[in-house]
Formats: sequence, structure tokens, C-alpha cells
Amino acid sequence: MKTTGNTVLITGGATGIGFALAKAFVSAGNEVIICGRREDKLIEAKRSLPQIHTGVYDLSKAQERDLLCDWIASDFKNFNMLVNNAGIQRMLDFTRGAADWLSGEDEIEINLKAPVHLAARLIPALFKQKEAAIINVSSGLGFIPLATMPVYCATKAALHSFSISLRHQLRNTSIKVFEVIPPMVDTELDKGAREDRGQANRGIPPGEVASATITALKSDQYEVAVGMAQNLVKSSRENPDAAFKIMNRWSIVLAL
Ligand SMILES: NC(=O)c1ccc[n+]([C@@H]2O[C@H](COP(=O)([O-])OP(=O)(O)OC[C@H]3O[C@@H](n4cnc5c(N)ncnc54)[C@H](OP(=O)(O)O)[C@@H]3O)[C@@H](O)[C@H]2O)c1
Repeated sequence: MKTTGNTVLITGGATGIGFALAKAFVSAGNEVIICGRREDKLIEAKRSLPQIHTGVYDLSKAQERDLLCDWIASDFKNFNMLVNNAGIQRMLDFTRGAADWLSGEDEIEINLKAPVHLAARLIPALFKQKEAAIINVSSGLGFIPLATMPVYCATKAALHSFSISLRHQLRNTSIKVFEVIPPMVDTELDKGAREDRGQANRGIPPGEVASATITALKSDQYEVAVGMAQNLVKSSRENPDAAFKIMNRWSIVLAL
């Protein structure tokens, strides 16, 4: 896949991994569009990358996802790359009943339904381009779950599965499907909880995920596990039960 001259939509592109990807794509000579809910974060992102396009869209709402797709179709005729990056992560304890889960933000809607919806809506536009890509940002936790984040891990496992099927369905088209699998990354995601726990290891810098993504695109490496996520992918295939036990023993030690 070419890594220059693309028109790239990055969801959740104002912070963390999404913003690192925006910087990497801009510096490689691509046109970049980002979206998110918080206007102040988008303004901040545009201040440091004036050439990017920004839009406020809440991807938890189907109607706003449609509006985002309409904007892309009308204003970006060369649009050829969708990066499904926006995501949230919640700790949920199902021994407490349904109240927790029902009262907070919907991880299934944001982490899974939105990427599926955007892919479905934008594939016709991507078909028009000679070369196009969909990049789904999943997680090492989609391969070996942390039981304290049960729905988050399930959405990422589902996004992995969706990526495999979509890649297969689109194999004879101009659209390539990539999956980026980050390990723990030092971003806003889970930041409060990590600080509360006094956890020293905050993960790798988001720029490392961005450079691994650009490298993977260049070499058509469709599934790229970054850093420690490689171990999770490997053990999910070799010995998932043992890996689950180790991960979740650790989570007790870390008081996750
Ligand atoms: N950090 C990690 O350790 C890690 C590890 C593996 C995978 N990942 C994945 O990497 C992706 C990026 O996360 P990150 O670590 O970079 O965290 P982050 O800085 O919190 O980024 C998440 C982005 O998604 C946007 N977003 C969340 N809900 C949204 C919604 N309803 N509509 C539109 N945008 C929304 C947020 O912007 P607004 O809040 O302004 O909407 C934010 O810019 C996520 O899919 C995450 O699951 C992260």
C-alpha cells in the first residue's frame, strides 16, 4: 500500500494513537481528516497540524456516523483510507448487576458498531479509488482478555474477527484491510485508572504504534501486532488458557 498521496480519515484522531497516526500520515505527505467528540481537542490538534481537516462527530450515534460519511463523500473525492481508531475502555464488574454497564458509555457501539458501520458506508467510496485501505485498530486484549474489562476485550476480539472476514471478502478488490494490534500505550485511555493504581508502566509512546503502522502499510503486512502485543497474539494461538491465567493473576497484583 502506498504511504504517500492518500486521503485518510482517522476516527478519534485528536489524541493518543490517532493523533500520532495523523502526524505520521501528514509528515509522509498525505491529506488527513480527523474526528472526535471534543471540539477543544480537535482545535488543539489543528493548531499543531494546521493542514488537517477536523470535524466534531459522536460515533456512538448512528445518525452522526452517517453525517460523517456524507461529509467525506461530498468534500473528499480522493478519500481512500479509513482508520477505525476511536475507542473507549471501561472496567465493568458484572457481579454488581447491570447498573454499571447500562449507565456508562456504550463500548459495543463505539468500539465495534461504529467501525462496522463506517466500513459498510464508506466501502463504495473506497471502491472508486485505484488503491484503498481500511485500518482497524484492535488491541492485544482482543487476543487474551483482561477480565476486569470484559466488554472492551470482547469488542476488540470481534473487531479482529471482522477484520479477517472483511479482508477475505475484499481480497479481489482495490481495498486492503489492515489490523493494528497495539500493546499498552501511554494515552488518555485508562489513564485515570492507571494513575489511581500508581501503575509505573504506562506503556509505549503512541508514536511507536504510528511508525509500526506506516511500516506495515508499506509492506502489505495486514496484521501488525506492536511490541508486547506480539506475545499476546502468539500465546492466544499456542496456549490461550495459560496466558489468560497469567494475565489475570497480574491484574490482581496490579489491583486492576
Ligand atoms: N492506549 C492503549 O493502551 C491501547 C491499547 C490497545 C488498543 N488501543 C486502542 O487504540 C485506540 C485509540 O486509543 P488511545 O489509546 O489513543 O486513547 P485515546 O487517546 O483516549 O483516544 C481515543 C479517541 O477516540 C475518540 N472517541 C472516543 N469515543 C468517541 C466517540 N463516541 N465518537 C468519536 N470519537 C470518539 C476520543 O475523542 P473524544 O473523546 O474527543 O471523542 C479520542 O480521541 C482505541 O481504539 C483503543 O482501544 C489502545
